Parts: sequence; C-alpha cells; structure tokens
Amino acid sequence: MFSLIGNTPMVPLHFRREGVTVHAKCEFLNPTGSIKDRFASSVVLDAERRGRLQPESILLECTSGNTGIALATVGAVMGYRVTILMSSSASPERRRLIQHLGAELILFESEGRYQTGIDMSRSMAAADARYFLPRQFENPLNVEDHERHTGQEILRQAPGPVDVFVTGFGTGGTLAGCGQAIKARYPQARILAMEPAEAAMLAGECPCCHYIEGVADGFLPPLLKAAPLDGEIKVTSTDALAMTLRLHREFGLLVGTSSGANVAAAVRAAQDAGPKAVVVTLLCDRADRYFSTRLFEESKPSLA
Ligand SMILES: Cc1ncc(COP(=O)(O)O)c(C=O)c1O
Repeated sequence: MFSLIGNTPMVPLHFRREGVTVHAKCEFLNPTGSIKDRFASSVVLDAERRGRLQPESILLECTSGNTGIALATVGAVMGYRVTILMSSSASPERRRLIQHLGAELILFESEGRYQTGIDMSRSMAAADARYFLPRQFENPLNVEDHERHTGQEILRQAPGPVDVFVTGFGTGGTLAGCGQAIKARYPQARILAMEPAEAAMLAGECPCCHYIEGVADGFLPPLLKAAPLDGEIKVTSTDALAMTLRLHREFGLLVGTSSGANVAAAVRAAQDAGPKAVVVTLLCDRADRYFSTRLFEESKPSLA
C-alpha cells in the first residue's frame, strides 16, 4: 500500500456558471481514502528508522477519523497494535472502519473540546511505555512531510505559477507544509485558510457547531502558526454541502463535505483573482465516510 500513497492527480474543475476554473488535487484517491495516509505512513516509517518502535509498541492517536483509519491500516500492515481515541460525535462509518482494521477504539465525550482526547492520549502514554504517540497536532513531521511531498507535487502539477492555494485545517499540517512549499517558489502566491463560517476562529469568532467534518475542531492547532497565511475564506455548512453535492453530480467526484467546502472557497478566490489565476485546492477524503451524515440525508431511501 505504501507505493500507492501520494502522487495523487490534480484535475481542473471548470465552473461554467461562475466562469472560473479551479485545480483540485485528488487526495481522496490515497489508498485508505484520505490525505491522512501521508502523515500516518511517514510518522510510523520515521519512528521505525529512528528505532523508536518495538514489536510490542502500540500506536496511540486522538483523531476525528481519517488519521485513525490511516494509522489502523499502516499498523495492520506493519504488525503494530493501534489504539484510536475519537470523539463520540465522529461518524459511525469511521468507527466501523477503524475497528474492522483491528484497532482498539476509545470514544470520548468532547463537548466541542478536542483537547480532552489529546490530554487522554498523553496520560495513557505516561502510564504505559508501550504507547507511541504520532502527535499529529504538534509533530513538525506533519508539516515537513506536506512541504516535501504534497507541496512539491502541487508545484509540479499546477498548470502555471500558483496564484492562490486554499484549504481547510484540522491539525494545520497540510496548510502549513503546502503553504511553505508554494510560498518558497512563488512568494506572491496567496495562501488562504478555508474556515467554516460557524467556527471562524482565525477571523476572531467563537467556535460553534458546523457540519464540515475533519476541519476546525474548535481550537487553533499549534502547527497552524507555521502556515504563511494571507487570509481566510468563510464557508457556511450549507454552502459546503451544496458544493459537495455538485462535485458528486456534476463532476462525478465522490468526495466528503470538507472537499466541497474547499472547492466553494476556491471558486470564490478564483472569482476575486480573475480568469487567468491558477487557484489550487484539495479534495481531502471520500464520500463513503459520510453516509450517516447530512450529506446523504436527502438521498435516503424512503419506505414505499
Ligand atoms: C477531511 C479532512 N482531513 C484532513 C484535512 C487536512 O487536515 P490537516 O490540517 O490536519 O492537515 C482536511 C483539510 O481540509 C480535511 O478536510
């Protein structure tokens, strides 16, 4: 599976009605269906190289789902036990996949505070030396890996100098790493964060409930400080869901809600930047993680 990670294609999406084209990198085509395969594989391979893993080691991480699925897969393939701490609000599809892969799943009541899970993972690791923490929210490898790989792929695949790069953030690793790679080559490029309008913390507002799973977990992650940000674009949950459905039905791209949010932000950025601008965004994960969420609400089969 490792050879299938990364080098994902970038596709141009032509929005005739809006009169713009945006370029979307298909991270949902990674083997476990999300961008998180990149960090999960690099952190475990790096730990092995440094001699930090023993056969009895247990990978322990707090995640909203995609990192858990990726780590559970990497752990299964490499023969390590995996324990995943996940908020009870995460979609059941993600929980099922993690357990299906043989990982242990511990759910916590977050009440909007992701820190609860991070604190739990730290105290579990302090009490048992077998635990190895990838620490996706603070590990600089998360940023470095995106700078060295995802970011360089974007530079190779974009149809010209990148004018705008916009994506959401969970840990901030993608935005920081890709942002650094793009800024180093094109200092005039604008690096923008997509934020749920209901939880626009970068814009100085309070976190509140939104339906864009996988991003904006109610706090500003430390890795985001490394992102060369020029601004943010707010996208409402309603607009994110509407754009995700368009990606499914007009473009045939079966992606998750945050991908719709990213593309909605990219379309707006492209309208502002003018017809020739090269605007790049990411399609982070697959639609099948969202069957039980609002995204699939209207297409639920009804009883005859
Ligand atoms: C579902 C999903 N996972 C992961 C990410 C990126 O997360 P991170 O900031 O942790 O690199 C995004 C970003 O938009 C996302 O939508």
